[in-house]
Amino acid sequence: MLPFIDLQTQFKRIQFELEERVIKALRSGQYILGPEVTELENRLAEFAKVKHAVTCSSGTDALLIALMAKGVGPGDAIFTTPFTYFATAEVIALLGATPIFVDIDIGTFNIDPLALKSAILALNNCDVSNNSLPNRSLKKLRGLNPKGIITVDLFGLPADYDRINAIADQHGLFVLEDAAQGFGGEVNGRCAGTLAEVGCTSFFPAKPLGCYGDGGALFTNDDDLASLFRSIRVHGRGVDKYENVRLGVTGRLDELQAAVLIPKLSIFPDELKSRQRVAATYQKLISSSNLDVITPKVPDGLLSSWAQYSLLASDQVERQKILSKLKKAGVPTMIYYSKPLHLQKALSYLGYESGDFPFSEQVSERIFSIPMHPYLDENVISVIVEAMVH
Ligand SMILES: Cc1ncc(COP(=O)(O)O)c(C=O)c1O
Repeated sequence: MLPFIDLQTQFKRIQFELEERVIKALRSGQYILGPEVTELENRLAEFAKVKHAVTCSSGTDALLIALMAKGVGPGDAIFTTPFTYFATAEVIALLGATPIFVDIDIGTFNIDPLALKSAILALNNCDVSNNSLPNRSLKKLRGLNPKGIITVDLFGLPADYDRINAIADQHGLFVLEDAAQGFGGEVNGRCAGTLAEVGCTSFFPAKPLGCYGDGGALFTNDDDLASLFRSIRVHGRGVDKYENVRLGVTGRLDELQAAVLIPKLSIFPDELKSRQRVAATYQKLISSSNLDVITPKVPDGLLSSWAQYSLLASDQVERQKILSKLKKAGVPTMIYYSKPLHLQKALSYLGYESGDFPFSEQVSERIFSIPMHPYLDENVISVIVEAMVH
């Protein structure tokens, strides 16, 4: 079976420096917030061209810390997409705030700015007649304080920040960029993770830049927010180690994971180039075949980090046929995501129903992802495409 993501080949490429750094960290006796974490944060900030990069224990904790720093809590409404990984909305709910879902643009799979604007107006005016929020939800939503937006750079493609940041400014909302999948992507040369007031990423092993466990980071140009992130990630500590000035979490990245990430970050630009090559080859081969699937489109000025290469089949039956062919040929596949968040049991208390977000629901029935990583060569890509055709 081919790997879905080839971490072994990557390991061999950086094995020497990686092992040297990890052993140095092991021997140093300093395992929490030491020199490796500091060096990684400096290098991440330089890579992303941002003033502050604050590492933390996971992408989920990065989102949580960002929302805590923004003072999000019960009574607050946060707009986000239902077509994402559960963590994006989970953190909103964990803080007692209310996720308000907004449907996606079917061309990019990211939150639709027009639908976002309609949902904000509907909530502000307590009027659901523009159909952006389900009728039945009005009672639940009455009195909520619209506070922010969490955008997601799904599959590596940045959301439409020009429009979303402008809408947020108009309505006094903050924007938190969930770049867990997007880190490495760009909008006109600006790095994903820095496209809004605050950005977060994940270093989960399967992410474009992943460690060997859990990890994450927050990005901002705002000095006050950065110091809040640093405080909240260590139980809300103040200047002194045992002074706690606010509530926080155990949210640090450890030295060993930082030691893994530094060599990985040094080959990341090259890996991103390879990801572009793989995506372009898939695009060329699939569009010149007779396959009835839609390949991902990257709008002008945007660069995807290609966390996933996801295709849209014409319907659920056709998707199943293609998945079966790939399985028979030993090609692994994944479905991200087969159930949008508004239909997840854990969020059923929000009162959403099937039919509320038609594009998210339609995409969840048609989408599938094929292997994507920087070490896929042209022959293997041809084999994968051939397997879908025959
Ligand atoms: C869009 C999105 N947000 C948040 C997360 C959470 O990241 P982590 O697994 O590092 O907590 C993920 C990870 O899969 C993700 O894909």
